[in-house]
Amino acid sequence: MNDSNSEQRKHRIARSFSSRAGGYDSAADVQWLVSMRLAERIKALPLPPACRILEIGCGTGFLSTRLAEAFPEAELVLTDIAPSMLERCRAKVGNRPRYRVLDGERPQGLDGPFDLIASNLAFQWFVDIREGLARLSELLAPGGRIMFATLGQKTFGEWRDAHDSLGLTCGTPEYPGAGDFPWPAGSRHGMEEELIRQPYDDGHDFVKTLKALGAGEPAPGHHPLSPGAFRRLLASLEGGFAATYHILYGELIAGGQS
Ligand SMILES: C[S@@+](CC[C@H](N)C(=O)[O-])C[C@H]1O[C@@H](n2cnc3c(N)ncnc32)[C@H](O)[C@@H]1O
Repeated sequence: MNDSNSEQRKHRIARSFSSRAGGYDSAADVQWLVSMRLAERIKALPLPPACRILEIGCGTGFLSTRLAEAFPEAELVLTDIAPSMLERCRAKVGNRPRYRVLDGERPQGLDGPFDLIASNLAFQWFVDIREGLARLSELLAPGGRIMFATLGQKTFGEWRDAHDSLGLTCGTPEYPGAGDFPWPAGSRHGMEEELIRQPYDDGHDFVKTLKALGAGEPAPGHHPLSPGAFRRLLASLEGGFAATYHILYGELIAGGQS
């Protein structure tokens, strides 16, 4: 993807999440669950009480709320590319943190270093996760960590299969696996994974939920299905549908080799 295409895609992603900020929480069951799991991992870290924390793609504040509670003396900087998501977050978490509209993949104007950079289910929207992580790791203090959850390769496998069986092209982006995750060269890192199967009434309910989250932007270059093909797809999923969320929990530690 060239720079102009990736900038346009980012604008669409930011607009889409901003436009759905009001209804996000009631559609975001999986995102909430994963934010709780990530928060537990973060709470187990040996972080000093007065640490400096940056969150990328904070959305309406599922993880931010936990971070603010768990680290009452920390300096928090909460960021998101979508202004209305950030405003929802502020309404929930209050004025103690600082808030910034920011493309987390190209973090500029932040006064690091940070002891922790945290992100729940935002990195899958990056154009280039490896480069984004490399840039973020430059903001880490010595011994600092990036703790994140992102989507993995098996995500929405059932949805892809339904397309395949009808000879249709699926718009779900390609996600990395745990084994081929695009870590920056020379980074010290670790990863765990989890499969969450989320039930939906049918294919229509699944699509409606993604739209309600603001997560409807397809893979780069994908052309939408024709109305007829879309109807056939939904008809093939009538009578119950479950979608897998393949969650990758990653940890990158400042400095050193893996
Ligand atoms: C699925 S939501 C997750 C929000 C929140 N972290 C949560 O757990 O509910 C993805 C979030 O990432 C944000 N996002 C997408 N691309 C981003 C980018 N390049 N930089 C920063 N945030 C981004 C979206 O605006 C959205 O708020």
